[in-house]
Amino acid sequence: MRKKILLMGKSGSGKTSMRAIIFANYTSKDTRRLGATIEVNQAYFKFLGNLILNLWDCGGQDQFMENYFSSQRDNIFKNVEVLIYVFDVESFEIERDIFYYQRSLESLSSHSPNAKIFVLTFQKRKADILKYSKPLEIRCFQTSIWDETLYRAWSSIVQELVMNSSLLEKSLNEFSNVIEADEILLFEKTTFLIVSQSLRKQHSDLKRFEKISNIIKQFKINCNRFDTTFQSIEIKNDNFTIIIDTFTPNTYIMVIVSDPKITPALTIHNIKYAQKHFE
Ligand code: GTP
Repeated sequence: MRKKILLMGKSGSGKTSMRAIIFANYTSKDTRRLGATIEVNQAYFKFLGNLILNLWDCGGQDQFMENYFSSQRDNIFKNVEVLIYVFDVESFEIERDIFYYQRSLESLSSHSPNAKIFVLTFQKRKADILKYSKPLEIRCFQTSIWDETLYRAWSSIVQELVMNSSLLEKSLNEFSNVIEADEILLFEKTTFLIVSQSLRKQHSDLKRFEKISNIIKQFKINCNRFDTTFQSIEIKNDNFTIIIDTFTPNTYIMVIVSDPKITPALTIHNIKYAQKHFE
């Protein structure tokens, strides 16, 4: 199952940086080494085994942009599942940015009318962007390569593409009820994006999941530097236990349990027992 994702936006807005951080284990600092993308860089990423993300990173310099709306219009905008449009926070050419954005929406509407649209920008701009997108529906996220916001946005994007996502969530809810977990998260193994979740208890920190994605991904990158991969992590305090463990061939699972009667060993046993059901 191949899904075409278009990454568009002005040169220097950070498209290649986010792609490199999410899919190629770059740290935020590493992105300073990246050069401008010439025309379109196409890449394929295997995701959750059966899904292939076909990422079209479209260089944002003016001469390339003009081509996307003329000679390359069909090629670029047909069969698109998701458009991710990135706005540069520091841009002084807002009118020009909006002009290109609206041309992209127009081309997308005619060639891929069912595509989902995500805009990554600064929160301050959100109201304007929503206005300029009408009548199309978009989802807007504030992102920075320097914090967890990137993971929140990209987790939402890939969740749109995962097949059987409601079935997966249902199974995760059932599993969570059986093992009496407070929360369960499922991460894609390579990117550490959240692909599904089950929440049985409310929590005040609404950013906690993407913070975890970000922290564990950094840990994973550090493990890679020492030529090793991490298998599992167990954190325990007086109030709860957190277990992060390899799960299916394409996922890691995180289980949070606060009932003191449920030991970490029992939770780990249950995770191992459930693996086959989720494969
Ligand atoms: P083109 O390939 O020319 O279209 O540009 P691009 O949109 O791919 O930009 P790129 O990812 O190459 O980023 C340009 C520079 O901006 C890099 O040096 C990044 O480190 C920096 N950058 C990217 N995203 C962010 C961000 O969210 N915050 C800050 N402060 N800098 C960023």
